[in-house]
Amino acid sequence: MEKMREADGREETIIVKNGLIDSIGSYISGKRLFLVTDETVYGHYGERIKVTLSDRDIEIYVIPGGEDSKTMETATAILEAMLEKNLSRSDELVAFGGGVVGDVAGFCAAIYMRGIPYYQVPTTLLAQVDSSVGGKTAVNMPQGKNLVGAFYQPKRVLIDPGLLKSLSERERVSGIGEVVKYGVILDYDFLRSLESNLAKLQSMEPDYLEYVIRRCVALKQSVTDQDERESGLRKILNFGHTVGHGIEKIFGYGTYSHGEAVLWGMAVESAVALEQGLIEPMYYEEIFELIQRCTSRSMPEFSVEALMKPLLHDKKNKAGAISFILPVGKGSVKEFLFEPAVIEPILERSRRRL
Ligand SMILES: NC(=O)c1ccc[n+]([C@@H]2O[C@H](COP(=O)([O-])OP(=O)(O)OC[C@H]3O[C@@H](n4cnc5c(N)ncnc54)[C@H](O)[C@@H]3O)[C@@H](O)[C@H]2O)c1
Ligand SMILES: [Zn+2]
Repeated sequence: MEKMREADGREETIIVKNGLIDSIGSYISGKRLFLVTDETVYGHYGERIKVTLSDRDIEIYVIPGGEDSKTMETATAILEAMLEKNLSRSDELVAFGGGVVGDVAGFCAAIYMRGIPYYQVPTTLLAQVDSSVGGKTAVNMPQGKNLVGAFYQPKRVLIDPGLLKSLSERERVSGIGEVVKYGVILDYDFLRSLESNLAKLQSMEPDYLEYVIRRCVALKQSVTDQDERESGLRKILNFGHTVGHGIEKIFGYGTYSHGEAVLWGMAVESAVALEQGLIEPMYYEEIFELIQRCTSRSMPEFSVEALMKPLLHDKKNKAGAISFILPVGKGSVKEFLFEPAVIEPILERSRRRL
C-alpha cells in the first residue's frame, strides 16, 4: 500500500488527487466493505468503484439521491442491511456520495456496534470542501435539519476532483459558495486567486480544482482541529449562513441550493460589516463583485421583516441575541451578537445597498 506521510510523520488522512478513484483500494484497508451511495452517483461511477474494489468482499447499498434521504428511516434501513450482512466491528463502511450520503452513512458508522471505521469518498464540490471534513455526521428530523447526529471522524477522506465533471450547474454553484467563504474568513490570497481564476473553477478545470480543494480542506481542517466540538473558533465557518439559512427558510428548502443562499447571505452580511464600519468600502466591493460573478441569478426579493422570523429561531442564538460572523479585515472575521431590535434596522439599511 502506498504510504502517504505528513512532515510530522502522521499518516495523511485526507488525500486530494485527480483520478484517485481508480486506485482507491490502496487507501482502504478493510477486506470486507459496506459501501453506501446514492442512485445518481451509482449511475455515474458504480462500475468504476466496483472495478477498483474488485479484490474486496463488498456490499453496495444505494439510497435515493437528495436531502429527503437524510432521515432516521434511511439510517435504520442501512443499519438493518448491515446487520443482515453480518457486518462485524472490524469491517469498514465507505460513504460514496455528496453531503447527504456522507452525513447519513457516517452517522450509521458512528452508531453501528458503537462505531466501526469508515471512509468519506465525497463526490460533490460541497462535500469535498466542506461536509466530508471535520467529522460531523447527522440526519434531519421532522423538527429541523441535522438535529440528531454524532461527531465521528472517518479513517480517511479520499477526494477525487475528477468526479465533479458530472455535477450539475446548480451543484457547482452550491460548492463555489462554500469555497468563496473560506477566502473571506481565513485567506485573502486565496480570495485573490479565486477572483483571477473563477472561470477555471466554474468549468471544473482539474488542476485548478485540485489546488482549490486542497486549500479549502487545509483551511477547514485548521479550524476543526482546534475546535472539534464547535465551542468557539468553528463558528467562523458560519459566515454567510445566518442570513443564508434565513433565505433558505423564507423560500422553502431546495428552492435555491444551499451554497447559492450562502452566497447571498455573505453579500448581506458583508454589507452589514460595511454599514458597521468594520471593513473598507473597497474591500466590500471586492467581495460583492466576486459573489455576483459566482451565480448567474440575482438575489431574490425579500423583506427584512420576513428574514427576521427565521433569524429569531436560529439554533445558534444565545439569550435572545442573534449571532453574526462578520468580516473585520481581509481574510479575517469575528462573531458579533445583536439584539433583534438593533439588527433589524441595520439589515434594512444594508439590504438597500445591495
Ligand atoms: N457534516 C458537515 O459538516 C456538513 C457540512 C455542510 C453540509 N452538510 C450537509 O451536506 C448536505 C448537502 O450536501 P450536497 O450538496 O453534497 O448534497 P447531496 O448529497 O444531496 O448532493 C447533491 C446532488 O448531487 C448529486 N451528485 C452527487 N455527486 C455527484 C456527481 N459526482 N455527479 C453528479 N451528481 C452528483 C446527488 O445525487 C444529489 O442529487 C446537507 O444535508 C448538509 O446538511 C454537512
Ligand atoms: Zn454551508
